[in-house]
Amino acid sequence: MEKTSLHGMWSSRLAFILAATGSAVGLGNIWRFPYLASDNGGGAFVLVYLACIFIVGLPVLIAEILIGRHGRRSPITTLGAITRETGASKGWTSIGWIGIVAGVLILSFYSVVGGWTLRYAWLYLAQLFGGAHITDPAAVFGSLLESPTELLLWHALFMGATVGVVALGVEKGLERAVRFLMPALFLTLLLLVAYGATTGHLGQAAGWLFRPDWSKVDAGVFVAAMGQAFFTLSLGMCAMMTYGAYLPRDVSIPRTVAIVAVCDTTVALMAGLAIFPIVIAFGISPEGGGPGLIFTSLPLAFEVMTGGIAYGLAFFALLFVAAWTSSISLLEPATAYMVERGRSRKGAAILVALVCWALGLLTVFSFNLLSHVRLLDRDLMGLIELVANDIMLPVGGLLIALFAGWVLKDGILREQLAGMPAWGFTLWRWLLRILCPLLVAAVLINALF
Ligand code: PHE
Ligand code: NA
Repeated sequence: MEKTSLHGMWSSRLAFILAATGSAVGLGNIWRFPYLASDNGGGAFVLVYLACIFIVGLPVLIAEILIGRHGRRSPITTLGAITRETGASKGWTSIGWIGIVAGVLILSFYSVVGGWTLRYAWLYLAQLFGGAHITDPAAVFGSLLESPTELLLWHALFMGATVGVVALGVEKGLERAVRFLMPALFLTLLLLVAYGATTGHLGQAAGWLFRPDWSKVDAGVFVAAMGQAFFTLSLGMCAMMTYGAYLPRDVSIPRTVAIVAVCDTTVALMAGLAIFPIVIAFGISPEGGGPGLIFTSLPLAFEVMTGGIAYGLAFFALLFVAAWTSSISLLEPATAYMVERGRSRKGAAILVALVCWALGLLTVFSFNLLSHVRLLDRDLMGLIELVANDIMLPVGGLLIALFAGWVLKDGILREQLAGMPAWGFTLWRWLLRILCPLLVAAVLINALF
């Protein structure tokens, strides 16, 4: 198939690593991972999550990028072309459609939470200039959630920032931004972990985070851990497939993928090690933190640390950037598809973003006007997360595994993975063919019955 993509190409291997890491590292690591660990009993959840990353996530990540690079188009077009070329059922194209729907659903709430990071960066900026301190973080967070107009405003700003980059094409602004800002984020996290150590509760936090209490494990914990593994690696919705389409031929996929997964996992674990010592030190229970966890716990520390206000500003501003580089990859697959169908890049990006923004109203209202709506013990935002992250992503990943494992021709796989040691290739293929689909199916079926 084609050597290059009509949407543009990453300028180098480093550019791809930055973009893929930018997609992976985001709210999933710093906002979602700690609160899921908090809600699911700590250690056992974390271990199941790590197992899912390395047994299921990594092989599927390789498969997604490989399919993308082979096809060089948006997921739907690529899958259509491969099915034609191999004579496989056109049904496999549904992977691309599932991905686009999941991406739109995820972006709808991701952008609302991305708006919270902007709101908090703004609050700390105001404090630097004499604004009110956050002395009661729970109250500050609560009043933000109570106000639909305020949530909508920040949600709109975040979505605007996302469209801006996607409309311009990914190569320019983004490659340059992540090069400096991601290491900076890593550094602030490291400092927060160091601060956690000074509270004297780092050991206790680590124990809670890594010592499994298997009595807490039920089907729900497995579903949450599997869903989070897919979510955090940007997997199962064709975001990585899309980024793979812009990847130069000579870059080794397995090696690149390993770097991305290790960075992503490190950031998540560090976020946990930064947040829980603070939570414990301030006498909050590590259990049941919910989506507000980082917004109600970290400000406690920023309030008492020397230079805490400037630090709070840096932290939330960098978290915004991390969320931004992820939301771009949520918007890109649908945009690329519409460009292939003849729209301008700008028009396509704006149209998809508008749909996501409007859907985001459900998340916004789930905290106020519609907070009484509950199903399966969840509010509206929780329901969207359940359907998109915990069901659609794993199902998408399962189909991708089967497609790459059984349908794609041997020659294509070997061409894309040239240089991979033979044992690695065989292992990868059988993981995709048998183990990954079985594990994902077992987790989902177990949850249903
Ligand atoms: N991986 C991102 C995060 O952890 C979220 C994401 C999911 C991005 C799916 C793209 C696709 O924040
Ligand atoms: Na992530």
